[in-house]
Amino acid sequence: MSGDGVRGLRGSAPRDVRGFLLLALLPVVSAGEIAAQTDSVNGGRTTRAGVFTAAQAEQGEMVYALSCVSCHTPASHTGPPFVAAWHGKTVADLFAYIRDNMPKSEPGSLSRREYMSVLAYLLRMNGMPAGREELVPDPEQLKSIRIELTSPPDYIQPR
Ligand code: HEC
Repeated sequence: MSGDGVRGLRGSAPRDVRGFLLLALLPVVSAGEIAAQTDSVNGGRTTRAGVFTAAQAEQGEMVYALSCVSCHTPASHTGPPFVAAWHGKTVADLFAYIRDNMPKSEPGSLSRREYMSVLAYLLRMNGMPAGREELVPDPEQLKSIRIELTSPPDYIQPR
């Protein structure tokens, strides 16, 4: 089979090009598959698994209204820029960012509970489902939840 391949490629430019395109696409597909497999092997969860409660996200909406809307609109944390910044990272990364930098005027000024609920609200506004258990400020647990933002059909790129 490999011998045939080598002979077939010689002097056959169109086939070379097709082969090249195929090779260029392959790594993308397999990287995704590997990521999915690793997930189930490690028992790691994604933000699609219901990692916060509905009540927590509602509380987060109030925290957001008090501490964040002076500079932000919810729309600024959804869509392509947010996906580009956070897809594939962990909830621990997003938590660390918010705690260390936000509110920009007074970083770290909220309680851990408030940061958790505002985090839940950010996840909810990105279409993540609520679940039965609260998101808790346990570093190991937050590290084990991957932010999964792009999988269709939930995500439709806004124009
Ligand atoms: C005083 C203004 C101000 C306040 C209040 C503020 N932010 Fe920000 N935030 C910014 C600015 C400016 C940026 C852009 C990055 C930077 O300059 O650090 C940003 C960036 C962000 C980002 C990353 C980019 C994005 O839009 O998703 C997140 C997430 C975020 N803020 C969340 C929050 C949350 C949650 C709160 C409330 C707890 C909050 N911010 C309060 C000014 C503010």
